[in-house]
Amino acid sequence: MRLLVTGSNGQLGRAIGNALEAADAPSAYEGCAVDWVDLPDLDISNAEAVSKWFEAHEAYDAVINCAAFTNVDGCEADFPAAFAANALGPMNLAWACASQGATLVHVSTDYVFPGNVPGERTEADVPAPISAYGRSKLAGEGLAMAANERTHVVRTAWLYGDGKNFVRTMLGLGKTHDQVTVVDDQLGNPTFAKDLAHEILRIALSDSYGVWHCTNEGTCSWADLTEAAYELAGVDCKVNRCSSADWKRMNPQSADRPAFSSLKNGHLEQTIGNQMRPWREALGDYLG
Ligand SMILES: NC(=O)c1ccc[n+]([C@@H]2O[C@H](COP(=O)([O-])OP(=O)(O)OC[C@H]3O[C@@H](n4cnc5c(N)ncnc54)[C@H](OP(=O)(O)O)[C@@H]3O)[C@@H](O)[C@H]2O)c1
Repeated sequence: MRLLVTGSNGQLGRAIGNALEAADAPSAYEGCAVDWVDLPDLDISNAEAVSKWFEAHEAYDAVINCAAFTNVDGCEADFPAAFAANALGPMNLAWACASQGATLVHVSTDYVFPGNVPGERTEADVPAPISAYGRSKLAGEGLAMAANERTHVVRTAWLYGDGKNFVRTMLGLGKTHDQVTVVDDQLGNPTFAKDLAHEILRIALSDSYGVWHCTNEGTCSWADLTEAAYELAGVDCKVNRCSSADWKRMNPQSADRPAFSSLKNGHLEQTIGNQMRPWREALGDYLG
């Protein structure tokens, strides 16, 4: 088995590395040869660079694309750069995969949904993003599936792991402030990169191609997540709750975010099984 992991220095890329070495890694990956790559060695938005990379390496069985422009507010300011990384990048990888019969696992987001309906979104729900990030990611989903029929699109949400993320930022603020103000009217599924990486390795072995939702179980707000992180990490800091409208007034350049973007892991449940645990348990593992 030969694997390529792009965006390998990001939170998810690192988690894939750990998942491959974990005792519970699927046995199909035993002795697997993995190429790891990130900027500046491979810019996935550069079609020529991607095709040269594939020409220079032995054929892959699967490619796991963890590379993305993930700064949601930054995408509003530079849509061409967001589209290059989040839409053209996965298309370039998918096209290269198709030329050698490889599977592509491409990671996407809950932000493809508008978030105007309470409850959980299924893979059959119609996306309609409200941010530049969401639009670039939705385009990437479609382009990747169009370019390679063996494409898995794995939508996740509110990811934290080894890297810059909301939980780490709030823990840092909690140690230097008596109180913080956090949005409490956006609901989603905090997801530990370790758990997502484990599921991605299982999804990559499936031939049930298409869209998968994959988040830790249970829904909360950013304020709930902050309080849980402080409680579990023993940080003494008060969480003041605010609305998205208040946040937007304080940060007018920030991107709009969906109010309800919880995902239901339906495809997992119906096929290889849903091994994602409740978000609080996963957060405890992260902070433990
Ligand atoms: N983080 C979240 O809360 C969240 C939520 C839902 C979905 N997702 C999705 O989950 C996936 C993994 O996210 P993550 O949090 O692990 O991201 P991350 O930590 O930001 O890592 C992304 C990696 O991709 C690299 N990269 C950016 N543009 C690239 C390009 N054009 N070519 C090659 N590499 C490039 C980045 O390098 P630089 O650091 O040098 O830019 C970084 O190493 C992404 O598809 C993201 O959209 C994330």
